Amino acid sequence: MNNPNSSPTLTNFLQSCKHRIFAQLKHYLPETNLYPSKLYEAMRYVVLNGGKRIRPLLVYATGQALGASLESLDRPAAAVELIHCYSLVHDDLPAIDDDNLRRNLPTCHKAYDEATAILVGDALQCQAFLCLEDLEMIHVLAQASGCYGMVAGQGLDLEASEKANLTDLKALEQMHALKTGALLQASIEMGCLGAHCHDPRIKMTLKKFGYHIGLAFQIQDDILDTEGHTDVLGKTAGLDTRHKKVTYTRLLGITKAKEQREQHYQNAMNILSHSGLPTHELESLCTYIINRNC
Ligand code: IPE
Ligand code: IPE
Ligand code: MG
Ligand code: MG
Ligand code: MG
Repeated sequence: MNNPNSSPTLTNFLQSCKHRIFAQLKHYLPETNLYPSKLYEAMRYVVLNGGKRIRPLLVYATGQALGASLESLDRPAAAVELIHCYSLVHDDLPAIDDDNLRRNLPTCHKAYDEATAILVGDALQCQAFLCLEDLEMIHVLAQASGCYGMVAGQGLDLEASEKANLTDLKALEQMHALKTGALLQASIEMGCLGAHCHDPRIKMTLKKFGYHIGLAFQIQDDILDTEGHTDVLGKTAGLDTRHKKVTYTRLLGITKAKEQREQHYQNAMNILSHSGLPTHELESLCTYIINRNC
């Protein structure tokens, strides 16, 4: 019998990429026998303790569809996960979402302290760029993670919950596309670059795919905040409501939020099926993204 609490399984390829990225991330993190050891310990605590690794998996699955070697994808895969981990540490801080639990463990500022958590975020961001050698990849990641991407989305998220002025779906879509979608799109774009794919048609197709799967991902995150349970989620359920966050479930209600998730998922899958590429792994990852329960 299916356990309703278990997330759908990943393909063997994706599972092996998950092991692979763990080793890569370890490689790019400082050892704890060096000083400042508390900072280095906290960096390892944040990065090496769980996580679904969806962004690196997107890099590997995209590269695989375009015939890249796994070795050529290791650096961007590590970089995008390090940026993501930094964004989680800062997102959980008392000044932002004030969360105590992440990946089933106390958040960085709870396990250590706020000052350390701020520095961990700063340091992980720089480590991410140190992984990359390719200038185009550096540009893509900086654009997607900084003030024109993820950080802009986080800024809109804060403004929206302070002023309660975000009331239309288009604006919410834009906020989600920035705060979460941009990094997912960048993962896909870096997968293309790792495969040395410069075909504008393929790049545009995958960019559109990234837009839809990015939105489907964050809508599912909003839904899980409403319907999920803290012990399964590994982060505090119901926090969006408590903080009056503007989310798909708040703006549209759960039924319409699920319709939107389905629509973006279908758009993403249609784009893949018309791409002419061998996208089995990407399709499997999309299905995982919208059916996950944590
Ligand atoms: C959570 O991302 C933060 C959002 C952008 C919604 P994930 O759900 O990918 O978190 P981990 O990496 O698996 O912990
Ligand atoms: C966070 O979105 C997006 C980031 C850039 C980290 P959320 O605030 O909804 O993520 P969770 O729910 O805390 O993981
Ligand atoms: Mg947040
Ligand atoms: Mg949060
Ligand atoms: Mg959330």
